[in-house]
Amino acid sequence: MTNSRGTYYSKREKEGFYNMAKKQGFRARSYFKLEQIDVKYNIIKDNLLIIDLGCAPGGWLEYVDNKVRNGKIVGIDLLEVKKQKEFSKNVQIIEDDFNNITDYKLGDFDLVLSDMAPEFCGDSVVDRGRTHKLNLKTLEFCRDHLKFGGNLVFKSFEGDDLESVRNAARKMFQEVKEYKPKSSDKKSAEVFEICLFRVN
Ligand SMILES: C[S@@+](CC[C@H](N)C(=O)[O-])C[C@H]1O[C@@H](n2cnc3c(N)ncnc32)[C@H](O)[C@@H]1O
Repeated sequence: MTNSRGTYYSKREKEGFYNMAKKQGFRARSYFKLEQIDVKYNIIKDNLLIIDLGCAPGGWLEYVDNKVRNGKIVGIDLLEVKKQKEFSKNVQIIEDDFNNITDYKLGDFDLVLSDMAPEFCGDSVVDRGRTHKLNLKTLEFCRDHLKFGGNLVFKSFEGDDLESVRNAARKMFQEVKEYKPKSSDKKSAEVFEICLFRVN
């Protein structure tokens, strides 16, 4: 990250990313998480077919839509994404379970993004376990729908099973890195796995 970017983010950190998102009219603070992941790993580019799993309320979609001039972005969520008309024609939003994606005959993706989270019950052991299961489902999704050479970013939580999730990812991708953006709450166990170049 360059110095000016560093200063930019420290300023944002001080002001609070939540307030910044509100001030700048973004749908969610998560906008900045994806922005920071992209600044570091340069994964979002023109002419890609991108899918955003668990896209509501639309913060990540908004970031990708702002960055990509030519390309197709599919967002899918169990919940409705409000004000779909605010997105460009590059964006298609589907209200459904990501496991049903085959029904939509969209072809294989160049990039899979997943900020999906299961329903939390408040018991951190159970919640982390559910998250790790969802992570494994996301890897299965990639086995069926991500092109070879494509990339995946998914959210997880520190916990007992995370290492086995990472190992499963390492079998499919040339490189698997972990990153916690500044905009992610320091107290939260949330981390992002950046899986580069599908090989298997
Ligand atoms: C943290 S939110 C995503 C925030 C989003 N990235 C943004 O920037 O606005 C997690 C989302 O995952 C969705 N989700 C969880 N399980 C899902 C599933 N099986 N299929 C589709 N979406 C799912 C939830 O409905 C929820 O909206």
